[in-house]
Amino acid sequence: MVLLENDGALPLRSKPGNIALYGNGARHTVKGGTGSGEVNSRVLVTIEQGLEAAGIQVTTKSWLDEYERRLRNAKQAYADKLEAITKERGQSAAVLYYLGNPFKDPRVQAITPEDVRNSDADVAIYVLARNSGEGKDRTLEEGDYRLAEEELEAIRVLARSYDTFIVLLNIGGIVDTTELRRIQGINAVMLIGQLGNVTGYSVADALLGLTIPSGKLTDTWAASYSDYPSSDTFSHVNGELDDEYYKEGIYVGYRYFDTFDISPNYCFGYGRSYTDFSLHTLDVTADEKQVAVTVEVTNAGKLYFGREVVQVYYSAPAGEVEKPYQELAAFAKTKRLAPGESEVLTVSFATNAMASYRERDAAWVLESGTYYVRVGNHSRNTKVAAGIHLPATVKTVQLKNLFHDEDEVREIRSEGRKPYSYASEPMEKQNAKIIPLDPSGIDCETAAYQSDRPVYQDNRPDVRITMDEVRSGSATPEELVAQLSVQEMAELCVGTAREGSSIIGASAGSVPGAGGQTFPLAERGISSLVMADGPAGLRLQPHFRVSKDGELLPGGEMFGDNINPLPEEAPEGAVDYYQYCTAIPIATSLAQSWDMDMIERVGQIVGREMRQFHVHLWLAPGMNIHRNPLCGRNFEYYSEDPLLTGKCAAAETRGVQAYPGQGTTLKHFAANNQEDNRMFTNAHVGERALREIYLKGFEIAVKESNPLAIMTSYNLLNGMHAANHYELIQSVARDEWGFEGIVVSDWYTSMKLFAGERKYPISSSPLCIKAGNDVQMPGCRQNIDDIIAAVDAKEGEAEYPITLGDLQFCALNMIKVIARIP
Ligand code: BGC
Repeated sequence: MVLLENDGALPLRSKPGNIALYGNGARHTVKGGTGSGEVNSRVLVTIEQGLEAAGIQVTTKSWLDEYERRLRNAKQAYADKLEAITKERGQSAAVLYYLGNPFKDPRVQAITPEDVRNSDADVAIYVLARNSGEGKDRTLEEGDYRLAEEELEAIRVLARSYDTFIVLLNIGGIVDTTELRRIQGINAVMLIGQLGNVTGYSVADALLGLTIPSGKLTDTWAASYSDYPSSDTFSHVNGELDDEYYKEGIYVGYRYFDTFDISPNYCFGYGRSYTDFSLHTLDVTADEKQVAVTVEVTNAGKLYFGREVVQVYYSAPAGEVEKPYQELAAFAKTKRLAPGESEVLTVSFATNAMASYRERDAAWVLESGTYYVRVGNHSRNTKVAAGIHLPATVKTVQLKNLFHDEDEVREIRSEGRKPYSYASEPMEKQNAKIIPLDPSGIDCETAAYQSDRPVYQDNRPDVRITMDEVRSGSATPEELVAQLSVQEMAELCVGTAREGSSIIGASAGSVPGAGGQTFPLAERGISSLVMADGPAGLRLQPHFRVSKDGELLPGGEMFGDNINPLPEEAPEGAVDYYQYCTAIPIATSLAQSWDMDMIERVGQIVGREMRQFHVHLWLAPGMNIHRNPLCGRNFEYYSEDPLLTGKCAAAETRGVQAYPGQGTTLKHFAANNQEDNRMFTNAHVGERALREIYLKGFEIAVKESNPLAIMTSYNLLNGMHAANHYELIQSVARDEWGFEGIVVSDWYTSMKLFAGERKYPISSSPLCIKAGNDVQMPGCRQNIDDIIAAVDAKEGEAEYPITLGDLQFCALNMIKVIARIP
């Protein structure tokens, strides 16, 4: 949780007997977003329940009952609509409707003088909740990004009616806080986020000071939506959904606000505590390999324990390429410090991580000049701790430019703009210890790119090789692949939802409710990989029924509010099964902890449940960058900052992959930042912005945690569908970063189901194979036919011919990952 404002009201000093609780999130607390990111947990502890469990009387039951009545009516109307669509056009049509037209909470009713009088409380809490999900971007409307007039009025009433008044934000993305900040009489504002199925307990603990909020924002909260550099063209805002021009280039989030000197309401890295900390930099060392900063953190308060996050940024020198004012380099969180207690932390990062991508050289380059290292506890509260001087420009990695765009985006420039500064900055720079580096001591790597893919010939025709031989080491995966027919390989590279009978979002027969599974080649001992969403826990069907012969019976499928009920009468001998999963905090809330050890432990929770439910790949973490606050899926992603994103994903992956044979699926690769037209929008992104902002997090996670899978995104990237993008998948992920797992498509990629009157066509199955998108999920017969027809096709026989080597390459990747299942 991130404490945004507090005049000392929090923690509530003596446990109040009564609390007046209001707001749409009080009884209907949002544990996480909707869509594939939802998790079917057995229980959800609401804030009302959490407070009551802590022994507090909630004395506004009649207000909460009235809101519940409104909500129930609205939900009933919505459910009726979904049911009608299901009856008319089937459940998949209802899922599509649900994604495109998400349920909206009704407006809150007014808080009357009578409500206040009857509440008999000194303390009031207003819980403001928002929900969103895939398939639909958020809007600027009241009740979404902006607070509704009814909400503001309720908050105004409470601010003047109670001695102590606290606002809790039960939200997954940013809301406009400018109006809220104008209201006098709010004593504290806490971003509680969406914390999964124990949200209410966690909130009660934090309010009472049993735990201490120590979260820090992972985004910039602007004073006005129009301050975001993508504000005028993002998604539906300009009415243009086909092309998304990333004109802000590298200036995403604080990189923009700092460089263009725009004051936000709350800056990146910001978050208060119940206590105060002092930071004292003891030492900075740097050489050609590594920079290390040693900081002493002291809890300078008298009453409360707490944890602080040391944030280290660097400001690179202006050179041939523009540089943002500062960029996050590393961070670390203290242990729980008692009043007066100190801890010394050493925060380090690789020297070459300060390089920029210079398109002219197609290389990461450390340009000559002085790099200032800044230390602080949020992005606008840092002090220069040292300068690192590099007398000459050096290349650190030699690559190729890979993302040419015919319809190139024109990026904004910061030239001539005065960046953010503060009074003591010039002095700090002048007094900074300068550490010289020797440019000749900095190594330059050169990436090696794949040339033609080999064709594996069967050189052991006398043995029929199966997975058993591969597992025992008596045959190699290549030898197995060489024996597979084109048909077998095409089947292996397409998910099992063959005849279009599957229900959107739940295509894995063997684990009901899991997103999908791959096709088993039983004769070869090649089993299925079962994949389930992602990212707030495992999304499975909580209740299913199996006939006495072990057949899965229809019914019980669910996708958010859209449920296909099980028939009341079960056939004789049928057995009902229940599989509830833990809803962990949404990705943004996890990231706000800045606590990578904790995120790893959360990954282990998921890992344990995957083992229990026989899921091999978790369709998570979501790693897209918070480019614009209206993206409907931001809650599934961590941050506007690529370093933090990459570190969080690596930590979660380590947790999940502590269980052998299980893996994460980093998604959505790449530049999946708009939901309204997510399958056909073309993201135009400059090569530098792609590499420094949108790909960087994936790079960090791949290199640090070796995930088993990556999921490509729906969108086109500079004119090419991500799933068909050889340069993205092969050249970048595999050749440049050394990714060794499988690449999975997002669901229904290359399926005509969604094609229509669009500017851009759907992606192509054979091109998926050519690009090294190893498996298309959940798959359809047409995908298989298209692949088979394209193998070694002659001119004119197939739109996109591929080679046998291309198909063997994907099949080999699949086999290597499947071989790891114990
Ligand atoms: C989403 C993915 C998800 C998949 C399977 C898609 O609609 O974009 O993130 O993993 O469905 O449920």
